[in-house]
Amino acid sequence: MNLSDRGQVTKDGIRLYEKSDFAGMHTAGALAAQILDDIAEHVFVGQSTREIDRIIEEKVNAAGATSATIGYKGYQHASCISVNHVVCHGIPGDKKLKDGDILNIDVTVIVDGWFGDTSRMYVAGKLSRKAERLIQVTHDALMLGIEAVKPGNTFGDIGHAIQSYVESQRMSVVRDFCGHGLGLVFHAPPNVLHYGRPGTGAVLQEGMFFTIEPMVNLGRAETKVLADDWTAVTRDKSLSAQFEHSIGVTGSGAEIFTLSPKGTFHPTYQS
Ligand code: MF3
Ligand code: CO
Ligand code: CO
Repeated sequence: MNLSDRGQVTKDGIRLYEKSDFAGMHTAGALAAQILDDIAEHVFVGQSTREIDRIIEEKVNAAGATSATIGYKGYQHASCISVNHVVCHGIPGDKKLKDGDILNIDVTVIVDGWFGDTSRMYVAGKLSRKAERLIQVTHDALMLGIEAVKPGNTFGDIGHAIQSYVESQRMSVVRDFCGHGLGLVFHAPPNVLHYGRPGTGAVLQEGMFFTIEPMVNLGRAETKVLADDWTAVTRDKSLSAQFEHSIGVTGSGAEIFTLSPKGTFHPTYQS
C-alpha cells in the first residue's frame, strides 16, 4: 500500500487523515508559523519584498524543509507578498515598502511530505486607523470561521460565520479565491469558501485537514488578476487583508497547525 492509498475519502472527495497524521501537520505548520514570526523584523520602510522573500527562502532551507511554492505552476518564489490593494499571490519584487503599507506574507513549507500553509499581515512604519480596523476584522473573521469547525457542522457554516461578521462590519469578503484541503498535497478538495449559508456544503468530519484564509476588502469584493497571471488586486483599488491557518478537524473541534510560536500572529501584538 503506498501513501496515497492510505486513509479514507468522503463522497465529496475529501480525505480523512488518521490521528497519527496530526503530528506531521503540526511540525510543518509550526515551521511555517515560525518563519512568519521571524520575518517580522525584516519588514520595514525601504525594504523590498524581494529581500523579504530571499530571507524566507533562506529560512526554509536552513530548516531542511522545502518551499511548496517554488516551482508550483511556474511560480518562482518562497512566498507571496501582497501589499495594500493586492488581494493575494503578490510576487516579491524590487519595489520598496513605504510608510503605512500593509502586507500579507504567505508561506507554505513541506516537511517530511506534510504541507504547512499560513499567512498573516504586517505593516511597514505607522499603521493607519482604517488599515488597523481592516486587519482586526480579517483576523477576527478567520478565528470565527475556525470556531465553526467541528464534526457535524458544514463548510457552509464556516463561510457563513466569516461572511456575516465581515459584512456586519461593512467590509466585503473576496469570493474569487478560497481555502483548500491540504495534507500530503498542497491543494486538495474541498474548496473552502469564505461565504455561504448555514447547513450547506459538505459535512465536517474528524481527520479533515484544510486551510481557512479569508481575504477582506475595505471596498467592494471584486478582484482582477494582473497581466503577470498571479497578482490579484481589488478592482476598486481598496485595501485588502488576509490571514490563513492550516487546521485539522478533531473529535470535538479544530486543531490549528500554524499557531505562532511567539504568539505574534496578529501584527498589532508585535512591538
Ligand atoms: N499559499 C497560497 C495558498 O494559500 C498558494 C500560493 S501558490 C503560489 O493557497 F504559487 F502563488 F505561490
Ligand atoms: Co492556502
Ligand atoms: Co497560503
